[in-house]
Amino acid sequence: MRKCTTGVSVAMNFLLIMLLAAGLQMSASRASPVGVPNLNQCELATDTSIIGPPTTLQLNCCLPIPSGSVVDFSFQTYQSAVKRVRMPAHKATADYIAKYTRAYEIMRSLPDHDPRSLSVQSKLHCAFCNGAYKQLGSNSAVVQVHFSWLFLPWHRWYLYFHERILASLLGDPTFSLVFWNWDDQRDGGNTMPAMFLNKGSSLYDQSRNAKHLPPNIVKLVPGSNGATSDIVKQNLNALYQDIVTSTTAETFMGGAFRDGTNVSSSSLATAPLGGSMENGVHNSMHFWTGDPTQPLYQDMGTFLTAARDPIFYAHHSNVDRLWERWLNGMPGGQRALPSDPDFLNAEFYFYDEAGRIVKVFLRDALDNNKLGVSYPDVPADDLWTHFSPTRITTGSAVLAARANGVPEVGPAPDNGVITLHSAHPAIVKRFKNSKERTEVLVVQGLQVIRDTFVSLIVFVNLPDANSTSPTSSAEYVGTFNVIPVPGKPLYADVKFEIGDNLRRVGIENESEVVVTLVVRGTQTITIQGLHIGYA
Ligand code: C2O
Repeated sequence: MRKCTTGVSVAMNFLLIMLLAAGLQMSASRASPVGVPNLNQCELATDTSIIGPPTTLQLNCCLPIPSGSVVDFSFQTYQSAVKRVRMPAHKATADYIAKYTRAYEIMRSLPDHDPRSLSVQSKLHCAFCNGAYKQLGSNSAVVQVHFSWLFLPWHRWYLYFHERILASLLGDPTFSLVFWNWDDQRDGGNTMPAMFLNKGSSLYDQSRNAKHLPPNIVKLVPGSNGATSDIVKQNLNALYQDIVTSTTAETFMGGAFRDGTNVSSSSLATAPLGGSMENGVHNSMHFWTGDPTQPLYQDMGTFLTAARDPIFYAHHSNVDRLWERWLNGMPGGQRALPSDPDFLNAEFYFYDEAGRIVKVFLRDALDNNKLGVSYPDVPADDLWTHFSPTRITTGSAVLAARANGVPEVGPAPDNGVITLHSAHPAIVKRFKNSKERTEVLVVQGLQVIRDTFVSLIVFVNLPDANSTSPTSSAEYVGTFNVIPVPGKPLYADVKFEIGDNLRRVGIENESEVVVTLVVRGTQTITIQGLHIGYA
């Protein structure tokens, strides 16, 4: 009897393996880079919340289609005579601010249908974040430049053309964007830069958080509290965890997005997700800057409207600079970008300074040098690059946690669906003896409706962590911030590198670890499992 069952299961397994292999082959041959959409097929970006306070935002983010033909990007065509050096916003001189103000004045004064106007520039962002365009040949998969490996390169291209347009409007080829040096916790970069704060200036946007004006410093983990010196420490640890100890292309830049990838209805196995740079400090800054009296923290707090605020482009210059730091400036040497052809050959549309549509390949954005863009060295980078978070626990917390009834949570699908409370400790098994590989905690099958801003904060070895726990210690792993896109579900595996945390806490030889998931916000988050594996 027993033999018989085994025989059947072997046969079944074999069949399953064959089916799987066939399936893999199919998807491998179908896999291809995401291409440019048909710009003639545009839908209104309409969002209606289905839970929480009823909110409807309807935006026409359809892009104007100029009469001329599409230009294929080449470095030769877009060669620039001068190298652009982007400087920190808080160090801008009065002359430079005047020039910058003038550039946005002209940009704002262009008619709404002009591709170079701030209105169309901001629609470019909305259009490709909020479902205005379907991928070519699909009637459900939209073009989406967030939540995946497209995020950093797409935004680099976006800045590149935005900057060229401003330079050409000014008639000044040396014009460069500034970067908002919010990661600088020492030399004055971590407040809203003064140049963006003058009412009546073209650089001003009234829909920002009025309580976050200087001297308030940024919070790189939403909801951080304590004295300024505590927030500084939490900011430094956020940067350290999101950039320094997020070493793989997948955890830092995000997961794969290919032709046909459907962000809002993907299955667990294929859902792409942004990396720590996007989900962590980048999203935090959008949330911190946006206006909390607006339902979606507009302008900066939601992708629909973020790019209406000139501070957006300075924010993203810094994101771009930090991507470059991650690649070339980390202890341990150069890090690897994805080499997948579906990454390299993804295509996008932008407008150039003549208002023409340009088609670009993602791969041409991977080297700022070739694009003629550079950033100066920022000495304050050292503060977070070499930040050394200290532990606040001694020894493994597993025994005590188990005695207190903290449950074990294993990989999906054995747990069913777990609804997270504001603080949710769990005991998770790990594999030992793989020290040379990158250890990754996967929060499996996370689901949330993106109606309001919510943060999922992860700690190890801290069973009592709650929503007011400081995030400055070595037990803090990272934060996944969900930016609102009302009514849209998010379904994905969220990954965090934890090897450095376990070593600093001194529990790297344990076979189990306490993981506590803390929710800051009111949105319900469910998960299906916790799994510790290797990248
Ligand atoms: Cu396209 Cu900072 O978002």
